[in-house]
Amino acid sequence: MMQAQLSIENIRKDFPILKRTVRDNKPLVYLDNASTTQKPNQVIDAITNYYQTFNANIHRAVYALAEEATTAYEETRDKVANFLNIPHREEIIFVRGTTEAINLVAYAWGRSHVKEGDIIVTTEYEHHSNIVPWQLLVQEKRAKLEYIEIDENGELKLDQLDKYLATGKVKLVAFSLMSNVLGTISDADTIISKCKNAGVLTLVDGAQAVPHMKVNLGTLGCDFFAFSGHKMLGPTGIGVLWVKKQVLETMNPFHGGGDMIREVHKYETTWNDLPYKFEAGTPNIADVIGLGAAIDYLTNLGLDKIREHEIELTKYALEKMSNVKGMKIYGTKDLAKRGGVISFNFSDVHPHDVAQIIDEEGIAVRSGHHCAQVLMEKLDVAATSRASFYIYNTKEDVDALVNSLEKVARLFKL
Ligand code: ALA
Repeated sequence: MMQAQLSIENIRKDFPILKRTVRDNKPLVYLDNASTTQKPNQVIDAITNYYQTFNANIHRAVYALAEEATTAYEETRDKVANFLNIPHREEIIFVRGTTEAINLVAYAWGRSHVKEGDIIVTTEYEHHSNIVPWQLLVQEKRAKLEYIEIDENGELKLDQLDKYLATGKVKLVAFSLMSNVLGTISDADTIISKCKNAGVLTLVDGAQAVPHMKVNLGTLGCDFFAFSGHKMLGPTGIGVLWVKKQVLETMNPFHGGGDMIREVHKYETTWNDLPYKFEAGTPNIADVIGLGAAIDYLTNLGLDKIREHEIELTKYALEKMSNVKGMKIYGTKDLAKRGGVISFNFSDVHPHDVAQIIDEEGIAVRSGHHCAQVLMEKLDVAATSRASFYIYNTKEDVDALVNSLEKVARLFKL
């Protein structure tokens, strides 16, 4: 039976920002969702409600407000567990975002498990946050960082993984489930099963995937998984690191301070239970609660329907954009392997000029290296422009983008 489609008109009513105009009274066309998404009233209200009615610190006091705040914070942990089908709630650690999550792994796992001569493997389409922490680690440990290259469609050349695994020196393979520049969806099942057969751990950067498609950590089989709240309708400054329990139990603390301790003496400390051992200090309570509201919102819509909507928009946009003169679009044409992200360039026109010209029409896209300079080098460009879609985007938004890109083509006589 066909599922009912999303009612984009109703969804848009939940996002107050979409009512505003920008520049010369132009309606806002927001197409920078890979960078951060807009927030629905449900998320904004959840945060406001916490501050207005039960603001208190958590895990520390017995009075009513503290109990309510602790319950709401811990409820989000259960929501994350249900959302991603995580069997053990104590495997879920709240962090500031994907970047902090990966740094935590590089520090708290990497520094005690990686030694001289070991290899960490990542890919050419990673965000800097899945490259730089590994560079820091391998420099310190005299280990090595290797890359799985991409082919002309922007897909990973997975035979290269076999070559690295055959050395017997690989300790971790770290890759993103969806590229923030090309939208390529990694073949995670193949990567993870190859690594498992070789006894190698895997870290998945889910920042771009979790908001847009169903992810099941109960079956995915990786060891570490990271994502951010702000790319999935939630607030900034909150994200999640999930670590398989057997691995988490081998890890040292990341930050020292309150809540992560059991007992502190003058010269020694014992650690709190999982996951609190990794949540030092007063956490970002309000934004954890906001993340819970975002998960509720996405769950109500249904991730399968969200993915369907984005495939339809991406297909429509790819068709229309490829007719614009001088346009080069990056990434695979296979929509089953691509999320709603379209990076593009006009020959000889700098992406910042493109972004600025279309901004005059109220259209927000990102231009730059997208925190993926290794990929920019591979594509042999300094930058691209990037349009990225979400649940509130419409075909009219795509039409507005294409009209403004045609204006760029006319202005530069392409
Ligand atoms: N990671 C964000 C992006 O891709 C900031 O734009």
